[in-house]
Amino acid sequence: MNDLLLRAARLEPVERVPIWLMRQAGRYLPGYKSLRARHDLLTLFRDPELAVEITLEPVRAFGVDAAIVFSDILLPAEGMGFRLDYDPAPRIEPAVRSRSDIERVRVPGVEEATPYLLEAVRLARRELDGKVPLIGFAAAPFTLAAYLVEGGASRSFENVKRLLYGDPSAARALLGKAADVVARLLAAQVAAGAEAVQLFDSWAGILSLRDYRAFALPYARRVVETLGESRVPRIYFALDAGHLLEAMPETGAEVIGLDWRVGLAEAARRIGRRVALQGNLDPAVLLTAPETIAREARLVLEEGAAASGHIFNLGHGVLPETPVANVAALVDAVRRAGSPRRPS
Ligand code: CP3
Repeated sequence: MNDLLLRAARLEPVERVPIWLMRQAGRYLPGYKSLRARHDLLTLFRDPELAVEITLEPVRAFGVDAAIVFSDILLPAEGMGFRLDYDPAPRIEPAVRSRSDIERVRVPGVEEATPYLLEAVRLARRELDGKVPLIGFAAAPFTLAAYLVEGGASRSFENVKRLLYGDPSAARALLGKAADVVARLLAAQVAAGAEAVQLFDSWAGILSLRDYRAFALPYARRVVETLGESRVPRIYFALDAGHLLEAMPETGAEVIGLDWRVGLAEAARRIGRRVALQGNLDPAVLLTAPETIAREARLVLEEGAAASGHIFNLGHGVLPETPVANVAALVDAVRRAGSPRRPS
């Protein structure tokens, strides 16, 4: 079994730096595109066999060191009582605005709300047959709650902020429900066979450090703690979160995922050596050429050597227009350049 990712997450020695890519399954891949031409997105998410085919495509095509189950962070919204559509940008209806809206939000059982996801995890684990670890994932509670309030993507996040500042106790009630949903969802994915989990706090970066400590961190920490018994590595990723860096390890996650805005060496200095770092090549580098990609990947690896453990990744998801050959070139470059890491 290639367990490089699990060992790097536990700060154990590895022969080379493991690599996987956020959003590696989907969008830019020919297999995904041809399935997507025949089925709508929700069908792909809800059909375990198709989802597993998409999950495995990057493992087979590039030899990445982990698989991530093909799903989406917003699927739990349906079980919480919302209508969910993708165009492909997500739309959630009706958006949550008031305390009474929040009271109506449900905390469903996972088998009842997203049985197809657990089936995809079980099936993917079987198909992978120990080749590489399978990562389960969910939104962190703040990011899930923010989507429910905005009803989809947002530029200014005015509705979330109005709720946080205007009615913090209602906001906390919603965040508590989101944390319960996410904790159950990840525990169920682990029970179904996920060997590591990632929490996407994609929107945490919109908060000041003080508001992050009030509205995001405690709920992410609650989810991380719930998973403690299972002993699977927990990865916590936030975007545009340089100002939150020192606080992120307080989630209790073994691995902190970062985007490209802060160098890994600086992050290692500021965060300390108790956690592994994941990241952080700018996904736009994959729009260039193999030599450029190899050069930029080496820079990330050099910086990552300052951390106690490093898992190579992009700083955010693979962009849809990324040439497949460039992803192959990146994985090759990292496999070749990833020097042995000794325990520290
Ligand atoms: O490797 C993978 O791609 C695994 C599956 C995966 C999807 N979404 C599938 C998806 C993962 C890990 C996600 C995470 C996700 N989803 C995040 C966190 C990461 C991040 O980008 O910050 C967020 C914020 C979402 C919400 C979401 N879902 C958005 C904003 C969109 C629309 C545009 C986009 O980014 O693709 C989606 C739709 C979605 N999720 C698609 C897929 C494959 C549709 C892509 C398409 O066919 O156009």
